[in-house]
Amino acid sequence: MNILIMGTGYVGVTTGLLFAELGHQVTGLDPDREKVNTLSEGLLTFYEPGLDRILWKHVRAGSIRFTTDASAAIRDHSIIFICVGTPSREDGSADLRYMGQAATQIGQHTKEYKLVVMKSTVPVGTCEQLTHIIREAQPAPISFDVVSNPEFLREGNAWHDALHPDRIVIGALHASAAVQVRQLYDPLDSPVLVTTPRTAELMKYAANAFLATKISFINEISRLCEVIDVPVTEVSAALGMDHRIGPHFLNAGLGYGGSCFPKDIQALLHIAAGHDLTLGILEQADHVNRTQIPHLLRTWEQAIGSFHGKTIAVLGLSFKPDTDDLREAPALKLISLLAARETAIRVHDPVATLPSTLRSSQIQQFGSIEETLAQCDAVILCSEWPTYKEADWARLHSLMRDHYCFDGRNMLDGNRMAALGFHYYGVGIVQSREGRML
Ligand code: UGA
Repeated sequence: MNILIMGTGYVGVTTGLLFAELGHQVTGLDPDREKVNTLSEGLLTFYEPGLDRILWKHVRAGSIRFTTDASAAIRDHSIIFICVGTPSREDGSADLRYMGQAATQIGQHTKEYKLVVMKSTVPVGTCEQLTHIIREAQPAPISFDVVSNPEFLREGNAWHDALHPDRIVIGALHASAAVQVRQLYDPLDSPVLVTTPRTAELMKYAANAFLATKISFINEISRLCEVIDVPVTEVSAALGMDHRIGPHFLNAGLGYGGSCFPKDIQALLHIAAGHDLTLGILEQADHVNRTQIPHLLRTWEQAIGSFHGKTIAVLGLSFKPDTDDLREAPALKLISLLAARETAIRVHDPVATLPSTLRSSQIQQFGSIEETLAQCDAVILCSEWPTYKEADWARLHSLMRDHYCFDGRNMLDGNRMAALGFHYYGVGIVQSREGRML
């Protein structure tokens, strides 16, 4: 089949490459000429492990191409996936401007039947809105279907998740449209759920909201762990062994960031508020997440005395490892709070770059872990890149002025760090009076 992907961000490119890999002919459409040129050369515009190789392969083979020409691209394709961004507005609602633009273009350039598939995460009822916009923009009535097919990819694991989805959700009003979408995924060995567009839209939000709640739950338990001398890591391990709970998303830490969880929870709360409904659990999940970094900074400040005037190394800027995505990254929030305490901050990330708005004589980025930690009083780990786990911490200890290690992702072995002479503090990790972990 010939498939058009509107929007060539992380979801659009991964989805396009999946279909190219499954034997389809794919065109990626984006108004950003620079992005289109870069992708056409077989180069990714974002960091995603393994995806660069796949893009290069399919660009060379001619199974994927990129264009800015909306009218020709829409005219020449009967299957169109919308993968545009849906950022948050000030009030928490999803900004559907790009979806609206895509729908208008589809309507304007439709000459024959189109199957329009919504991949972006959108509020319940968006497919109905999409149908309305397409119909209004059509110069003359031409039949089309709109199907919701939410994506469940994780950044950093996008290619694996694309090839092995836990489920494929298809929300359609007509069985024929659902069958068409289902056939596209035929080679994948994953369960398929066929439902209505509204249900599919909510399924996506509910999945992200549940995962975010799981993280806030364990972060809240970690606060209790700190005051009653119980290691949260052991509690999570035991929880995870219960198959009804499952082991994933129970790592206590600085909280969730990224372009999805914070935005999707806000959007869901906004949708509920529009129906005079309060979603108390989600409000609390959001509250725990917003207060997690200030809470940890208070706790760690008690350990070090004061951050004021200290030199602090921050390892890991991106919202999680294996991505350069800084959207809602906990590290950036932490850096801003530290900066307000007149701390000198030295940062490192394997791929992400400190935004220019944060760069100053007070906040500087360095190319190596060693340079970053030199003469620091403390190091704070913000995302669990393997390179930090594998670092030579004995050598790093010798480079530091003082030896506080605040592990915001519980990624290091606290006993080993203490044995090396660090004052080690994790999240919900207990220290005995001798300064050794129990
Ligand atoms: C998330 C979902 O996991 C995907 O299924 C979904 O498709 C995607 O959002 C989306 O809606 O597009 P992603 O944002 O890439 O994926 O990242 P996650 O791996 O879910 O991590 C989100 C945040 O939670 C990160 O900041 C991570 O550090 C944090 N996290 C995760 C924890 O603090 N503890 C955990 O145990 C797990």
